[in-house]
Amino acid sequence: MNRRDFLASAAAFGAVAIWARPSRAAASRVAWREDRAAYPQGVASGDPDDRSVILWTRRPFEAGARHDLTLEVSRDADFSSVIASTRVPVLAAADWTCRALVGGLAPATVYWYRFTDDEGRGSRVGRTITAPSASDPRPVRFAFVSCQSVNEGAQNAYRRMIWEDERASADQRLAFVLHLGDFIYEVVEYPNEVPHRYARTVYDLGRVPDARKVANFHVPTNLAGYRHVYRAHIDDPDIQDARAHFPFVCIGDNHEFSWRGWQSFIKYPGSKVEPAQPLRVAANQAWWEYIPSRVRKASGAGLEQFRPPAVAKAPIETFDDHGFGTEPNNRAAVGSMTAYRAMRYGKHVDLILTDHHSYKAADPTDRAEAAALDSGEYPVLPQEWMEIVDGGRDYLGGKPRRRSRSATRPSPIFARMSPLSQCLAASRRHGSRIG
Ligand SMILES: [Fe+2]
Repeated sequence: MNRRDFLASAAAFGAVAIWARPSRAAASRVAWREDRAAYPQGVASGDPDDRSVILWTRRPFEAGARHDLTLEVSRDADFSSVIASTRVPVLAAADWTCRALVGGLAPATVYWYRFTDDEGRGSRVGRTITAPSASDPRPVRFAFVSCQSVNEGAQNAYRRMIWEDERASADQRLAFVLHLGDFIYEVVEYPNEVPHRYARTVYDLGRVPDARKVANFHVPTNLAGYRHVYRAHIDDPDIQDARAHFPFVCIGDNHEFSWRGWQSFIKYPGSKVEPAQPLRVAANQAWWEYIPSRVRKASGAGLEQFRPPAVAKAPIETFDDHGFGTEPNNRAAVGSMTAYRAMRYGKHVDLILTDHHSYKAADPTDRAEAAALDSGEYPVLPQEWMEIVDGGRDYLGGKPRRRSRSATRPSPIFARMSPLSQCLAASRRHGSRIG
């Protein structure tokens, strides 16, 4: 891809795009001095391809609606070989988060980047890696992670990941971290109410603004709430260091929106299903602001801000053939961000990221006819039932047996089989919490 093609595709993507010029590499002339307090969530990079990557930071200012930062990309950690430099806007409307797409990079190459404000206050230095070219036959090494509840656990797996990566030989180092979802847990416990869970310490994530109390949890009800929860997770030093050390490729699971939510529906234990279109938009906006990625947003071009569509809370009562609610606000809310996408890593890896929770139908295990499956323990289903759910209308050629073998006898009680299952069963007794 040449510079003209890159700029054309970046414009379609809506990026603040800069094009590296390796032939003009020079030492930095920016008066950068690291001031991590000015960039409390550090830096991050996301969704690299073989020529470009998205770089991210957050620089909250006390006044004004827009400021500009200087972004530099270098081949060296000391910025003696800067190949790209540009001004990037940081907007209050995006919670002071900032993204830029840098192109013209070499494949499978490590780069370093940093942001500096006009007073010389600089972010920490970030490290990122481009993807290998599509013809590169070398194996691709990556780590996958998920379910990082900062509220209920230490994130030291990242510390170990960085520690091992820094000591690995060049061909054994990780190319990227694949995050399979639950980057946040929107269900926040307060230590003064719940000091321990699963015998673990509950860590203080502050108070979620405008929160709704659900069982022992406080959940966001608006954009301010989700932003708070993202910041609280990225404030974790291990998560923050990992984002500065590896490029991340992220897709959401359920907790980026709501514990038992799907589409624009929310449901909490002991209460009915509720439509929550504005909440879905708020969740999408906060994800877009805090996770640098090549997702598409309905508001069109621009990496500066999300520009949420106006949606109303309205009953969702009609569905298409796939169980997707046809109510216009549901369509607009879910469609405010399209997160599913595909990425290429060298000759052997096509990474197809699916977004199940945004589009799935209501959980079939909530239906009355599924009651026969309920063993009274954690809702783990027999293998045959999982195959039926996965196969959908095509299961057994569209002619399922009239009676499942599993329905003629109680489901296995997995809680008796392993310590993990006992833990899961305990979670049910204490107000179950899935994934
Ligand atoms: Fe999870």
